Amino acid sequence: MEKLVINGGNSLFGSIDISGAKNAAVAILPAAIMAGSGKCVIDNIPDIADINCLERIVEGLGCLVERNGNSITIDSTSISSLNACTEDVRRMRASYYLIGALLGRFKEARVDLPGGCPIGVRPIDQHIKGFEALGAEVKIEHGAVHVKAEKLKGANIFFDVVSVGATINVMLAAALAEGVTVLENPAREPHIVDVANFLNSMGANIKGAGTDTIRVTGVEELTGCNYSVIPDQIEAGTFMIATAACGGEVKINNVIPKHLESISAKLIEMGVDIVEEDDYVLVKSEKNLKGVNIKTAPYPGFPTDVQQPMSALLSISKGRSIINESVWESRLKHVDELKKMGANIKVEGRTAIIDGVNKLTGAIVKATDLRAGAAMVIAGLISEGATEIYSIEHIDRGYPHIENKFKALGADIHRENE
Ligand code: EPZ
Repeated sequence: MEKLVINGGNSLFGSIDISGAKNAAVAILPAAIMAGSGKCVIDNIPDIADINCLERIVEGLGCLVERNGNSITIDSTSISSLNACTEDVRRMRASYYLIGALLGRFKEARVDLPGGCPIGVRPIDQHIKGFEALGAEVKIEHGAVHVKAEKLKGANIFFDVVSVGATINVMLAAALAEGVTVLENPAREPHIVDVANFLNSMGANIKGAGTDTIRVTGVEELTGCNYSVIPDQIEAGTFMIATAACGGEVKINNVIPKHLESISAKLIEMGVDIVEEDDYVLVKSEKNLKGVNIKTAPYPGFPTDVQQPMSALLSISKGRSIINESVWESRLKHVDELKKMGANIKVEGRTAIIDGVNKLTGAIVKATDLRAGAAMVIAGLISEGATEIYSIEHIDRGYPHIENKFKALGADIHRENE
């Protein structure tokens, strides 16, 4: 087991490159196994534990996988199993995309129920509703989802809640269904558009991804393709927030500024100077920022995935800030850790009331989940003295080499064995 050790207080200067988007890549890898012929060569893959986990999972199904730096080649012509029932599958959330992918291509799959960050109840009823509407029989037995269909037929599906996972999963199955599927009230996150673009590169016919109606016209076969994953909106947001909190000037390269608008708007409201160019943002901060209120919401709203990093910044911002976490009911567990560092935060249900303090002080804390871990890193960077962060395997699931990227900007941070 490893821990991160941070000596806080340094401002951040320089430039960093944002990696490929985790939540796009973890859907694109399962989507790649839908190719009945040819290989998928996928670039800009982030070097994170969730990708390693998915690699092992698809290899277990019989795919041939080759990793070369940030590029992955997947040959799925030799799939020999429709059963994904392993510890890796149970450990991560995105393994549920194997259900839609295998159902689409083989009309059958057995996949263990997924795991993922402990941020609330994570039902899959909307995924199931979509698969059933396409004509599949869905059973949950012995902790696994078993889906089977004679054939899949396009349908009109209205999602009761806006769900990233359900939108992608049903889109995967519908890509190889007969006829037209219309998805109403889908999620509109940038990674939804990226997965649709990837499927279209494989020969699918998907229109409207990123809007409130997605239209999927089923095709008979998908084939291999070359593709590059979009930049990670959440990693970029995390570095923007860290720069705002630490003070300094950082050029954040390889981003799509449009995807960052809700984050940029909040930081500007707090007093941060942000310049947006074609593929980078320049963030300048002299600290002494003012608190703001935040309500998380599906895209294009303020992303729940940067709520926790943002709470670290708000804990040292002037006045009172209120966070309302509307997506996940238990995504404020990190607050107890921030309090160990001197933050003044009161949690009532899904709301955090933050009264800004002048400084945080280093402490021994843990990453209770992935983005909580990023919040702890930011808190450590702005604290007086030393911070040790434990359970950093959560951070490694979604941030590639976080300590190296911050070190390159002048932070005093390193990894040690516990
Ligand atoms: C994805 O999770 C992301 N994970 C999460 O990122 C992210 O927080 C979330 O979308 C929201 O943006 C991956 O992409 C792997 P949802 P997902 O289905 O798909 C309810 C991170 O930090 N819901 O959009 O599991 C659900 O309870 C991670 O990178 C149902 O009620 O989220 C939640 O309240 C953590 N029924 C809301 O919808 C369903 O069938 C949004 O969930 C599905 C979801």
